Amino acid sequence: MADRRQVLRLGALAAGAPAVLTAAGAPAAAAPPRPPRRPALVIGHRGASGYRPEHTLASYELAARMGADFIEPDLVATKDHVLVARHEPEIGGTTDVASRPEFASRRRTVEIDGVPVTGWFTHDFTLAELKTLRATERIPAVRQHNTLYDGLFPVPTFQEVLRLRERLCRELGREIGVYPETKHPTYFRRLGLDLETPLVQALRRRGLNRRDAPVLVQSFEAANLRSLHDDFRLRVPLIFLTSATGGPYGDPQSYAEYLTPAGLRELARYTDGIGPEKGQVIPRKADGTLGTPTGLVADAHAAGLRVMPYTFRAENQFLPAELRSGTDPAAYGRALDEQVTFLRTGIDGFFTDQPDIGVLARDLALAPA
Ligand code: G3P
Ligand code: CA
Repeated sequence: MADRRQVLRLGALAAGAPAVLTAAGAPAAAAPPRPPRRPALVIGHRGASGYRPEHTLASYELAARMGADFIEPDLVATKDHVLVARHEPEIGGTTDVASRPEFASRRRTVEIDGVPVTGWFTHDFTLAELKTLRATERIPAVRQHNTLYDGLFPVPTFQEVLRLRERLCRELGREIGVYPETKHPTYFRRLGLDLETPLVQALRRRGLNRRDAPVLVQSFEAANLRSLHDDFRLRVPLIFLTSATGGPYGDPQSYAEYLTPAGLRELARYTDGIGPEKGQVIPRKADGTLGTPTGLVADAHAAGLRVMPYTFRAENQFLPAELRSGTDPAAYGRALDEQVTFLRTGIDGFFTDQPDIGVLARDLALAPA
């Protein structure tokens, strides 16, 4: 039986092998209290965005090589209706567009889900134009090391992400899933650039519109998921993302209402799980330290839904107060402790910017104490 020291060694040497301990036959009875029902999924959030500019093929590839079970592209549309991977329609924060004189006149203000946003927008660029840009690090003050890669990588299309997935499955000899998120689907639909049609087409084209495909589709808009399920006949599991406050854009029902036991039972009609903000699983106290777990995991499981919270990041500034190390906001704190604590609530997966740390945390959570 592997002990905690062996896990640490295995985790350090073989981050590419998820669920090492389960594969080695660690008996469930020896696991820590309240183990996950099955090994939690490590989801490479925007790829391995702790180590590469987010939403680049380099970021996704590194996530897979670090052992992520899924890679996560956020999806938006170009002017010619092609899906590309960006966290939001505005691209001034994650590309070098601001330094391109030929695109200076494209800068403008638009209203996205009721909020004015100024910058450059994917829907004002054809794919060919967008391909001339290069990705840059979103948070250089925290991830200065990632600025090393500024200017190297183009913005990938969703098709390119799916092709990368196939290549990495072959090379690594294991299934790597893709976990796309539709970003602002109502906004894009009103522009005549709906995200649903090209998403479903792309999945069909690669034989992935089936229940057992290594695909999970997520959205903050429940109506978008309902439509994907009921109208577009998307057969892959769907995951409803939630925040601690507010509700989906244009929806009279709040996230809190969706997460009541009755709301969860209704969600289970057309979704397979929820992706809550992590504070909805374990809130922080007024002093910034971790509080007591809510009943959300148990409630969701009772409704037959999986729970995969976001987003786990190793840097001090993102960690609970008691898990920070030193005073540098960009330095790593005790991220493993945070993730193991969450894993012991029974979550079914988690989004992380540092997939290697996520794989190690999962191994630690599964190991006998
Ligand atoms: O999709 C999970 C998580 O990524 C949701 O938040 O804003 O990082 O896309 P965001
Ligand atoms: Ca996302």
